[in-house]
Amino acid sequence: MSHDLSLALPTFAGLEEVLAAEATELGLTSVEAGRRVVTARGDRTLLYRANLELRTAVRVLLSIDRFTVTHEQSLYDRLRAINWRPYLPVEGSLFVDVVDPGGWFRNTHFIAQLTKDAIVDQFRDKYQARPSVDKSNPDLRINLRIHGRGEVDLSLDSSGDGLHRRGYRRRTGEAPINEVLAAGLLGLAGYRGEQPLVDPMCGSGTILAEAALLATHRAPGLLRSFGFERWPDFDRAEWATVRQAALNRIRTAPYPILGGDIDGVAVAISRATLDRAGVLPSVRLEESPFAALDPPTSDVPGLLVTNPPYELRLQTGRIEEFYAEIGDTLKQRWPGYTAWLVSANPAAVKRVGLRSARKIPVMNGPVEARFVRYDLYRGSAED
Ligand SMILES: C[S@@+](CC[C@H](N)C(=O)[O-])C[C@H]1O[C@@H](n2cnc3c(N)ncnc32)[C@H](O)[C@@H]1O
Repeated sequence: MSHDLSLALPTFAGLEEVLAAEATELGLTSVEAGRRVVTARGDRTLLYRANLELRTAVRVLLSIDRFTVTHEQSLYDRLRAINWRPYLPVEGSLFVDVVDPGGWFRNTHFIAQLTKDAIVDQFRDKYQARPSVDKSNPDLRINLRIHGRGEVDLSLDSSGDGLHRRGYRRRTGEAPINEVLAAGLLGLAGYRGEQPLVDPMCGSGTILAEAALLATHRAPGLLRSFGFERWPDFDRAEWATVRQAALNRIRTAPYPILGGDIDGVAVAISRATLDRAGVLPSVRLEESPFAALDPPTSDVPGLLVTNPPYELRLQTGRIEEFYAEIGDTLKQRWPGYTAWLVSANPAAVKRVGLRSARKIPVMNGPVEARFVRYDLYRGSAED
């Protein structure tokens, strides 16, 4: 089948290259990393697979038109001229998301309303019946992205709920990291599941869950449903084949995955999360302060990826001293490891007192953070 579908994969700032690599590996073509988005081409099978398997995409948008409008009426006219029937049953439900980063239209809410009106008016005229609006569970989510001076990218949202909703999370700890960001951090750290992985401050276990999904070659979307399953052209047999192929790829994690947290409640939440994700047998959990956690033994150099408290969201007091203790523990107890800390507290990170090998800016929701790498050589150097 030819790659006649044009896809846009929004992601987090800083994860574009990781997602582009994933998209290429999946088999998408014309893959290009943009700002918080990767564009690519594929066929319907790859659209299904992108939703099921990509770890660092926030959603998978199917572009259906691109045009320039001069004002609101011309947007309405243009949208009304599109035949919507192939995308939506006459009495189906829809929801419209508008993204207008440059603020070209004054009121995105109004633009969403206008888009909905253009579609509903077309159905009423043609079929004397109209689709309804449903914010939480529509048959069709439509996405309008406005660029520069009235350029509109019109897409169907094939994901429905954002792809970070893996379906493994019920309860969280105090400051959970987004699932897509956790997968992206593991990607930036070069984790492929072929070495030991430790998160010694695991909170509700997001980094561990994403690492274990990756290490076991488990598709992140196996526990949930997607928007495209409600589309009129949904190919149930093809979807069953895609899911089965993903299930057939699952393997046992070849190297240890270890999680620790000082807080027993966090450990219990992590256990429940990992269990729902289907990866609990691949992960060892310990209720332990980082300073007392023993590195797993392995002949392959290990990776430590963690999101320590940074006081912005967790009040631990003495935060800078705590980071200095993290540095001491890394130096004394984790030689041979590569450690990555994600933190939004740069003053505290300085107190780690080890030479950083890389610093990558990332966004944890609205919070600007740094992802910092330390190579812990045997007999590690200080700054
Ligand atoms: C920001 S949260 C981690 C959130 C996690 N990434 C998630 O997605 O849920 C930091 C965690 O560090 C734990 N913690 C604080 N001090 C610790 C210590 N000395 N040793 C181990 N864990 C610690 C806290 O209990 C908390 O769960």
